[in-house]
Amino acid sequence: MPCTLDQSFVTKGSWKPDLFKDKVVFITGGSGTICRVQAEAMILLGCRAALVGRDDKKLIETSNELCDLVNDSERCLPIPNVDVREYNDLENAVHLTLKKFGRIDYVIAGAAGNFICDFMNLSPNAFKSVVSIDLLGSFNTVKAATPALIKSKGSILFVSATFHYYGVPFQGPVGAAKAGIDALSNNLAVELAPLGIRSNCIAPGAIDDTEGFKRLSKPELKESVKEMIPLQRLGTKKDIAESTVFIFSPAANYINGHTLVVDGGMWHTGTLF
Ligand code: HXC
Repeated sequence: MPCTLDQSFVTKGSWKPDLFKDKVVFITGGSGTICRVQAEAMILLGCRAALVGRDDKKLIETSNELCDLVNDSERCLPIPNVDVREYNDLENAVHLTLKKFGRIDYVIAGAAGNFICDFMNLSPNAFKSVVSIDLLGSFNTVKAATPALIKSKGSILFVSATFHYYGVPFQGPVGAAKAGIDALSNNLAVELAPLGIRSNCIAPGAIDDTEGFKRLSKPELKESVKEMIPLQRLGTKKDIAESTVFIFSPAANYINGHTLVVDGGMWHTGTLF
């Protein structure tokens, strides 16, 4: 997959080129679309990245593409065969990251699973699968990385959503999981802040050209979705990149226990996409 961002994010963007120099980000779901662009942004601004996920082919491909983006083969570490539902997998991934890079400064808990299904046809195992990947997986990720984050006085970013703010049909498991993620983030913001760790969420809305948008909408609906959004456009992956950089940057040093909604104001309208 071609990268979304390029060097102009550094040369013509809002951020200092070496903002994250010598830092390390640990990302689950890093070869998906939202987390992938988050990784691109962090790497372009000097960070090293551990990309953690299930699919070895996709992860290695993504890792190579991100290294090419900054012309540095050592900038990315793909850690495949990790199922976020398995705590031991995450502990091992943290171990490999520390072995390679020596530290972890930022965690993006982004691995997600989702499908559209009405309640009457939703099996208990289907509900459990999504909640286990999204909520338990986020817990496992942060739990395994916390000892390293305490050392670096690091920062956590959970990837949440907006559709649990109201009753969106056919999205029961993911809505329940994301609500849990928000609660977990708030809890950690209070418990871990005295140790120097900030915890926040990002809640993307309708972001064009992402796995989530493909699953929840249809290309022919794009124009009508745009009209529902107060800013009259779909979100871009770059919008997510900018917000992610902001949350991890020193500019957000006093932001803790916050959910940054990046949706052009859509959820305030109460409409769905
Ligand atoms: C109803 C379904 C289903 C579907 C699976 N199941 N797909 N039920 N409708 N479309 C049921 C199965 O029948 C089974 O229940 C149970 O779910 C587990 O299915 P498995 O295939 O065995 O699970 P697993 O292999 O672990 O896969 C997990 C998964 C899968 C979530 C079901 O879709 C997955 O791995 N997805 C990862 C990629 C992904 O979804 N990315 C989305 C990211 S976008 P039974 O009862 O038959 O055993 C995103 C958007 C967020 O999250 C919102 C943005 C705005």
